[in-house]
Amino acid sequence: MTPLIALNLKAYKESAGERGLALCRIAEEVAKETGAYIIVAPQNVDLFRVANAVSIPVFAQHIDSNAQGAFTGSITADAVKEAGCQGTLLNHAEKKIPLEKIQLSIELAKKAGIKSLLCADSVYEAKRIAPLKPDFIAVEPPELIGSGISVSKANPEIVRNTVDEVKKIWNIPVLCGAGVSSGEDVRKALELGADGVLLASAFVKAGNPRAILLDMANSLKG
Ligand code: G3P
Repeated sequence: MTPLIALNLKAYKESAGERGLALCRIAEEVAKETGAYIIVAPQNVDLFRVANAVSIPVFAQHIDSNAQGAFTGSITADAVKEAGCQGTLLNHAEKKIPLEKIQLSIELAKKAGIKSLLCADSVYEAKRIAPLKPDFIAVEPPELIGSGISVSKANPEIVRNTVDEVKKIWNIPVLCGAGVSSGEDVRKALELGADGVLLASAFVKAGNPRAILLDMANSLKG
């Protein structure tokens, strides 16, 4: 599955409803064209529709840490699986959850048969999460999120150190994110030892999202 590009569509106006679906179709086309492994995480309300429309892996942006039952408003791992998704992001800097809930959510995801992509805002947090054996870890320094300045250029140490520390604990793919905006940023991330990137605004808000993603996907090949 690696190297990979994970696209978090967040809750942007540009990624709601039909526009979100169109972005996911672009991601699918670029994945087919380049052979790149691309994951999309559309808005949760669009999961069923997107998962039924595209053949690339669809992840939720978050799941709650409860099983199915009388939990109004809850997004369960099982429902996400039934919607046709292959995984979920968890603990994004914009949707933090305490460690006990992280553990529960990872277990619920495993039980439901979906993958977990855990976000960490520091090397320290990545080291705390790694023993819980998620399927992926993505390190994203919050101050660079949405900045357009790539973590792989502005803070290469956090990428290198997270890769080193996580792989000492558990050999899982480590992604990096925050400000990743071009093929060059992706290349740099891979040079630092990352197994891929997690990004949002550079794709979602681009005038030409296909061109940006194509550049990034081609950079995965080295
Ligand atoms: O989940 C990806 C994200 O937080 C990074 O956002 O807009 O800097 O690519 P962005």
